[in-house]
Amino acid sequence: MARAKPIIEFCSLKGIIIQAYGTLAPLIHYAGGPVDPVVQKVARELGATESQVLLKWAHQVTNGGPVVTTSSKEERLMEHIQVFTEIKDLSDVQMNAIAEAGKQSPQPFRVSRDSRLVASLAWPL
Ligand SMILES: NC(=O)c1ccc[n+]([C@@H]2O[C@H](COP(=O)([O-])OP(=O)(O)OC[C@H]3O[C@@H](n4cnc5c(N)ncnc54)[C@H](OP(=O)(O)O)[C@@H]3O)[C@@H](O)[C@H]2O)c1
Repeated sequence: MARAKPIIEFCSLKGIIIQAYGTLAPLIHYAGGPVDPVVQKVARELGATESQVLLKWAHQVTNGGPVVTTSSKEERLMEHIQVFTEIKDLSDVQMNAIAEAGKQSPQPFRVSRDSRLVASLAWPL
């Protein structure tokens, strides 16, 4: 899948909800990759953690879709909840900067076998 943005726009028009998962992949699978420095910069600008930026980005890029994540650590779970209670929205500039960095990532856009659209960070938008 070369470009996901038209699919997101189509789904929004049709009322199809996109769920994001694997959102923290840049932190846990691709540490040191192209998304890292951009997310770190946005985190500094927002006074947020990197995982909060990634979860917020996924929520905004899916036009408010649910973001699936998990943690075995209470402090991280609290951090994740704060994404939706305390962290302000990323600006268009910040959103686009992460998307541009994501184009360099090996993580693909995927459509699941049961035809529900699922997504992950670093979509080639
Ligand atoms: N990824 C998929 O392909 C996929 C597909 C279908 C369903 N799911 C399900 O969706 C749920 C979420 O999975 P996901 O893959 O989407 O998870 P994710 O949000 O990309 O990553 C969650 C993992 O990140 C770690 N983590 C959380 N905060 C962190 C931080 N600040 N720094 C470093 N690591 C951090 C957690 O480990 P700690 O416990 O150490 O915090 C947890 O193991 C799971 O129940 C999974 O089974 C995933």
